[in-house]
Amino acid sequence: MKRHPAINGIKVLLGITGGIGAYKSAELIRLFMKQGAEVSVVMTRNATQFITPLTVETLSRNPVGTDLFSLSEERSIDHISRARWADLMVIAPATANYLAKAAHGIADDLLTTISLAATCPVLIAPAMNSAMWDHVTVRSNLEILTSRGVAVVPPTEGELACGEEGVGRMADPEQIVAAAAAAIQLHDLDGVRVLVTAGPTREAVDPVRFLSNRSSGKMGYALAEAAATRGAEVILVSGPAALDPPSGVTLVSVESAREMLAAVRANLKACQWVIMAAAVADFRPSAVLESKLKKKGRQGLSLDLTANPDILKTIAADKGNRLYIGFAAETEDLLENARAKLEGKGLDLIVGNDVTERGSGFGSETNQAVIILRDGTVERLPLMTKRELADQILDQSMRCWQSGDVDG
Ligand code: C5P
Repeated sequence: MKRHPAINGIKVLLGITGGIGAYKSAELIRLFMKQGAEVSVVMTRNATQFITPLTVETLSRNPVGTDLFSLSEERSIDHISRARWADLMVIAPATANYLAKAAHGIADDLLTTISLAATCPVLIAPAMNSAMWDHVTVRSNLEILTSRGVAVVPPTEGELACGEEGVGRMADPEQIVAAAAAAIQLHDLDGVRVLVTAGPTREAVDPVRFLSNRSSGKMGYALAEAAATRGAEVILVSGPAALDPPSGVTLVSVESAREMLAAVRANLKACQWVIMAAAVADFRPSAVLESKLKKKGRQGLSLDLTANPDILKTIAADKGNRLYIGFAAETEDLLENARAKLEGKGLDLIVGNDVTERGSGFGSETNQAVIILRDGTVERLPLMTKRELADQILDQSMRCWQSGDVDG
């Protein structure tokens, strides 16, 4: 099973409403607990027809709430305490009836009352017959909920309990856990403006030729996507990359190192975090030829190169209390070289990776990295996708940021 670090240690209030998908909620409880969450369940009266409170209580190891007007239940944990306790509320399955009540503020049982009292992120996993799912009323209720920030993991297609085929089955528990991880993360970068650089730079030789490197931009784009997903406003300064910019991200396209430096400078003041994931060319041809270089009559060719500005070093003086994050792609002495770059470039955090390792580095979907912090902490990470690594980098960056241990 895929690990979702965002789930570890959180308190999940699981609401189960009266749909056949309720039988899958038992598995959902197990999966949440396996990921390190504490789970407390509230069931509607109809849900208890599909799965027993005893099953749910045994699996979750927490008292189940079923009745708003039960003296014994309210005495042990009242509805307001339940709402405050939760870091995340998940309603799975969510019936059309629940969506209608939640959208219109009806609070006529324990679950809908808690739904009004809860201030944590909410995720719903609707499940119903496909005709109901397509009904304009259900759709407009869902729109009301999503417009208020409720996350939705939509139903999937397949055989429904009524025997018909169509869209309406509750998403699989693993999908719901993945959506929960995204929902809980949605907001930890709210209000933070992040500048990410990505991709290679191209240094022109003549109108048709350039010097560049093997960077695909995948790591930088994954960081931009992860930061935007977590609520950040992201400016992505990208060298030429064959990737679509993640949604919600402002893309600034550049070619050369000097253009990248100019774009970084222009946006620096507005940002609190700077993540330099770009593989900036260290050298450029000293002169760009105005017309195409001819091979005729030449046995060889020497290019005269000039060093490009080091963007991080150039902006070091404007650091203030910004968080600066850099990368070190190395082929040898990874830790030593990465530490030297952390110091030399005045960074708070550096991500080092050995590009000669299998599955690491340029162009690959995965990366095996080590994160080094200024206080000397070294976190060695296993091989993972660049998107997963992006979240790990953001987690560590957030720790630096929150601790206030930012080099000024
Ligand atoms: O010195 P090296 O190129 O290995 O350093 C890598 C880090 O420095 C990366 O974060 C990269 O984006 C940044 N860099 C830079 N300007 C350069 C070269 C690299 O900011 N000219």
